[in-house]
Amino acid sequence: MKEIFRIAIDGPSGAGKSTIARRIAAELDIDYIDTGAMYRAVGYKMKLQCIVADQKQRLQSMLENTDIDFVNGDIILDGEVVNDKIRTSEISRMASVCSALPEVREKLVDIQRKMGTRKSVIMDGRDIGTNVLRDAEYKFFLTASAEERAGRRYRELLDKGESITREEVLRDIIQRDHNDMTRELNPLTKAEDAVEIDTTGLTIQQVTDRILSYIE
Ligand code: DC
Repeated sequence: MKEIFRIAIDGPSGAGKSTIARRIAAELDIDYIDTGAMYRAVGYKMKLQCIVADQKQRLQSMLENTDIDFVNGDIILDGEVVNDKIRTSEISRMASVCSALPEVREKLVDIQRKMGTRKSVIMDGRDIGTNVLRDAEYKFFLTASAEERAGRRYRELLDKGESITREEVLRDIIQRDHNDMTRELNPLTKAEDAVEIDTTGLTIQQVTDRILSYIE
């Protein structure tokens, strides 16, 4: 195996990307970069500062004064750990909106590329194999039926105490799939050279093992 290598994992919301990427990172002792968390952090800050998508100047100046990093697996926004604050259904919607804005993508893709040059990483998102790390050594595209993905998200949100119905979660997932796949800038698509894995009916461990077997 090369000294430094990059693994790109893309796919729609709820396909299991982050849980699986975290396991693979631990297994291979490399860094895990959750790019969705970065869009969520920006969405969270837009909400805190009451910035809407067409307030270009406020958005630009907010982005210039925003620092996003990962430390020991935690996402740090301007010095504060925001892991839990960014995992609500409201912030999921904010992230979906802000991830279509060119100013936001430009800033975050730039940070992500820098993170991908220093050491071996596994990075998950929507445009990693097609854009951020186009020359990654390994690329995977995870999918699962919308119903299965909604079921997984629903259980996560229930565990966090959100009061939401399964139907609402399914509607949100379908809406976010639509936003992610139809936006103009770097929409969600499978890279030609990515290995596609349908995770419907598979356990986390089965998917992890399948990916590891490709890499090893
Ligand atoms: O993976 P996630 O649900 O945490 O991602 C949050 C939002 O960010 C989602 O609507 C898609 C968007 N996103 C993106 O546009 N590009 C990425 N590389 C990662 C996430």
